[in-house]
Amino acid sequence: MTDWDPDQYLRFEDQRLRPALDLIVHIDGSPAEIWDLGCGTGSITALLGERWPTAAVHGLDSSPEMIDRARRIADIDWVLGDIAAWEVAAPVDLVFSNAALHWLGEHELLLPRLTARVATGGTLAVQMPRNFAAPSHALLAEIAATPRWIDRVGDVVRPPPVAEPAFYHDLLRALFSSVEVWETEYLHCLTGTDPVAEWARGTAARPFIDALGDAAGEFMEEYSSRLRVAYPPRPDGTTLFAFKRLFIVGRR
Ligand SMILES: C[S@@+](CC[C@H](N)C(=O)[O-])C[C@H]1O[C@@H](n2cnc3c(N)ncnc32)[C@H](O)[C@@H]1O
Repeated sequence: MTDWDPDQYLRFEDQRLRPALDLIVHIDGSPAEIWDLGCGTGSITALLGERWPTAAVHGLDSSPEMIDRARRIADIDWVLGDIAAWEVAAPVDLVFSNAALHWLGEHELLLPRLTARVATGGTLAVQMPRNFAAPSHALLAEIAATPRWIDRVGDVVRPPPVAEPAFYHDLLRALFSSVEVWETEYLHCLTGTDPVAEWARGTAARPFIDALGDAAGEFMEEYSSRLRVAYPPRPDGTTLFAFKRLFIVGRR
């Protein structure tokens, strides 16, 4: 299981917040019970609690580091657990997941299983990155496949975990009274040295860093130098990072 570093993840909190807000504004109604699956540090879960202040809000994450950080936020039930094993006694009004379900496979089974835990009149709201063909993600796999690294991290590379938008539409439309699926490509304007590598250090590069231990620095140096070519700094010193994300909102 991937080790998470809450401080590194939160370095890009502002940019990571925007897609979560774009998802939240598409949720109708007044859910009384909300589960945030893969809640991480809990900052988005807290926003759900602010938007629906009378709701019972639960945040679930499999990373002890992330849940420890989330526990600093009051009035939310924080649960250390695996989304794949998540159960509830009765269906709930809102099953929410921002930037987490791409860490789990078999979406053709996972999404219908999560849908079954949504009450009649309730909502499933999901956002996942779909940037796996972009250099930020593809370069990790390319470098891992070179002779220098293949024995150490060749098996860390996995097939792109998020399918085409139409796949989710076809999978879910019979299970909901309405389903919306859409993609947005964000253009993040980043500052600082090697900002795309620093971004990935908090997420997509984590499994490689974990697997490499002491050799992670050398791997990240090679990754960073190739990212500098793929994402050259602009004349004003900023770096533009295009990032595609997929959204699903299903209403039962
Ligand atoms: C990129 S972070 C997103 C955190 C939060 N949802 C947010 O938007 O800020 C992904 C989170 O998913 C969690 N995660 C990944 N696989 C998981 C699983 N199988 N069960 C529970 N949590 C998982 C990770 O521990 C991590 O905290």
